[in-house]
Parts: sequence; C-alpha cells; structure tokens
Amino acid sequence: MNGIVKGLVGLRDWVDDRFPLMQLWNDHMGCYYAPKNFNFWYYFGVLSLVVLTIQIITGIWLVMSYKPDASLAFGSVEYIMRDVSWGWLIRYMHSTGASFFFIVVYLHMFRGLLYGSFKKPRELIWILGMFIYLSLMAEAFFGYLLPWGQMSYWGAQVITSLFGAIPFVGETLLEWIRGDYVVSDITLNRFFSFHVIALPFAIAGLVVLHIIALHEVGSNNPDGVEIKKHKDADGKPLDGIPFHPYYTVKDSVGVVVFLMVFAAVVFFAPEMGGYFLEHNNFIPADPLKTPEHIAPVWYFTPFYSILRANTVNFFGIPAKLWGVIFMGLGTMVFFLLPWLDRSPVKSIRYRGPIFKTALGIFVVTFIILGYLGMLPPTDMRTLVAQICTIIYFLFFILMPFYTKWDQTKPVPDRVTG
Ligand code: HEM
Repeated sequence: MNGIVKGLVGLRDWVDDRFPLMQLWNDHMGCYYAPKNFNFWYYFGVLSLVVLTIQIITGIWLVMSYKPDASLAFGSVEYIMRDVSWGWLIRYMHSTGASFFFIVVYLHMFRGLLYGSFKKPRELIWILGMFIYLSLMAEAFFGYLLPWGQMSYWGAQVITSLFGAIPFVGETLLEWIRGDYVVSDITLNRFFSFHVIALPFAIAGLVVLHIIALHEVGSNNPDGVEIKKHKDADGKPLDGIPFHPYYTVKDSVGVVVFLMVFAAVVFFAPEMGGYFLEHNNFIPADPLKTPEHIAPVWYFTPFYSILRANTVNFFGIPAKLWGVIFMGLGTMVFFLLPWLDRSPVKSIRYRGPIFKTALGIFVVTFIILGYLGMLPPTDMRTLVAQICTIIYFLFFILMPFYTKWDQTKPVPDRVTG
C-alpha cells in the first residue's frame, strides 16, 4: 500500500515539474476561499457541471449507434432503445438530462436574481453564463431534430421558418439555414454536426471561462457581502473556508441527492407524461402530415408564448416579425441585468418590498407563460399571454426605477452564517 502511495506521489511530482498541477489545484480547490454561508441555492452550479458531464458521456455512446440520415435516424433510435445493450438507459439518461439541464440552469440563474450575483464585480460571470444559456438552447434545439419524429421535424420547421419573417433577407436566410427549401436530410446532417461537435465545444469552453471569471472575483453569497473585505494576517478571508475539503464534501451530498432524483425519473418516468419526451415524437417524421398541435419542449415554452402573443401588425411590421423580435428581446434582456439593477444591496435578504414583489410577480408570470406555451392557443389564452408578456417586459424596463426607490435594509459588514 505504502508503495502505491509513494508511486502516486512520485508521479504527481513528476507531472508537477512539467505542468502547474498543484498550482491549479490550489488556486481552484485547496486554497480557493469560498464564503462559509453557502446554502441550498449554491448547489446548482456544481449540478450543472454534473449534468453537462452526463450529457457528454451519454452523447458519445449514443453517437456510436445513431444514424444521422433522414431515412435511418428514427429507426436507429428505436434500435438503440430495443437492441443495443443498455441503449435504453443511455438514451433515457440523455433525454432526461436535457430537461434536468434546464431545471438546474434555471434554478442557478434564479439564485443569481435572488442574491444579486450578476452585480458588480460579477457582471462578466453573468454574461458568460448568458452565452452558456443561449448555447444550451441551441444545443437542445439541434438535438431535438435528431430522433426525426413528428415533433422533431415540425418543431424545426416552425422555428427555422421564423427566420423567414426577417425583411428582405428572410427567405434566403431560411434556405441557407435549412440547406433546402424545407427541413430535410441536409438539415438533419448539419444539426447533427452542430449538436455533437460545435456546441458541446463552445459550451465546455464557456464553462471554463465562467469558472475562471468566478475564481478571479470570488463567489457571492446569500448575504451579498464581499468576503475579501475582511482578511486575517495571512491574507485569508475571515468569512471564507477552503473549497476543498469543505465544499467538495458538502457538494458531494448534493450530487448524491440529485442523482437519486435523476435516477427516479430515468427509471420510472422518463417521458414525464409527455413533458420531457413528447408523445408525437414516437411517430416517425412525416413531411406531408402536420401535427394538429406543435409545441416545443417545456424549457422553451415561456419564449414560445411571447412569440405567439404578438398578434397585431403595427408600424407596417407583420405580427410574426414582432413575435420574433419580442422573443429575441425576451431572452437577450437578461444580459442587461447588471446595469438595470441599481439597488445598493445585492441579496434579497436586504432588499425592500418592491423588489421582492416584482421578483415574485416575474416568477409567476414566467411560469404562466411557460404553461400557456404548451397549450394550443385560444382567444382567452392569447389575451393572458399578452398580459403576461407586458408584465414580463415591465419587470426589466422598470427595474432601474424600482430598485433605486426601494427601501433597502442595512447590509451587515460580515456574513451572518
Ligand atoms: C452549463 C451551465 C453552467 C455551469 C456548468 C455553471 C457552473 C457554475 C459554477 C460551478 C459556479 C460556482 C458555484 C455556484 O455558485 O453555484 C457558478 C457560478 C455562477 N454562475 Fe454559473 N454555470 C452555468 C450556467 C450559468 C448561467 C446560464 C448563468 C446565468 C445566466 C450563470 C451565472 C452564474 C453566476 C452569476 C455565478 C456566481 C454566483 C455567485 O457567486 O453567487 N451560470 N456557475
């Protein structure tokens, strides 16, 4: 045993003489000081990393049996589910992983809103996070075409057709994106390429930048107090603890609980009643038969609702183009949060009643929009979606004012535990 340990230490030292292994470990784990008061909300960063890993590993194995060809794709997925050893598990882990990715990332972003983690000096962490979020949306959209089911096909048809609404260049752009007049085998091939190569690389690279930026300024915490302000004689933050072993151990507990929930869904409800895998997607794509109701997967539906809520042509611009503009603005507006929020405090704990109410209303609005986006539109639903869309944008437009006027509470000098 002693010999093995000695050998491993020797190997580590050998690498360390040629590569800054221990320095990297110390900078990011052993000597990286994180605030001592992290709570439940601080699990979702590491959980996003866990899901990213699950997606990459299961994805590699899926590609071994998947065929990116319009005449073979649907059948190859069925083959994975029925004939490939453990193929059903790998496929369900990947499809469930997609929904779980958005669950953990939405909760991770919500934590940012709760504790003002996007505010100075963490604006860049937030912006990199937003690029991750957009890449993740693209990744999920491209991936959804691959099983070549009815929803894959018609979803891609509807979403790509939105580019056709852009004046002058729309039609040409649309053809360029699809590589054909309709979504076809060519589209499937290019979506496959983006899904398995381009976007995973982009996401992994952005995550590395996200964490480097985070470790440069240090984590925020539920009190929104900068721990670097109070250091001991050795220059260590008084309210900080080394990430390893304290948070590696704590996060392991979160990861185990998460994996239990994840496994429960994978084994007992992988389709989640049609929310994670839509029923129509078990029917092979048929370009001649439009499904009665086309809806994206749940994580896109708030934005889909905003798209559909625009039903009026004004300023000479057709409703469809307004829909595309507002849907785009609805996602991009999050980039501006660090500058829209003018509150002197970060954490919800010390914010006043107006911000708390505004955030509560925003969350409810987002959920209602998400729900409506899954249903076929009726006059009543469209009206509710229109009201929610207005509230959604007012949350951001009015933010510079209400965050300034709000009655905040005094922020303690040190974290409160
Ligand atoms: C693949 C997706 C992502 C991964 C793997 C990831 C990973 C992480 C990790 C490990 C942390 C540190 C632990 C923590 O604070 O929870 C973190 C912090 C942070 N992330 Fe992400 N993240 C992702 C997406 C996002 C997105 C989409 C946003 C926002 C648009 C975002 C914004 C932030 C912010 C502001 C922090 C600092 C939080 C604080 O110190 O309070 N992240 N991220």
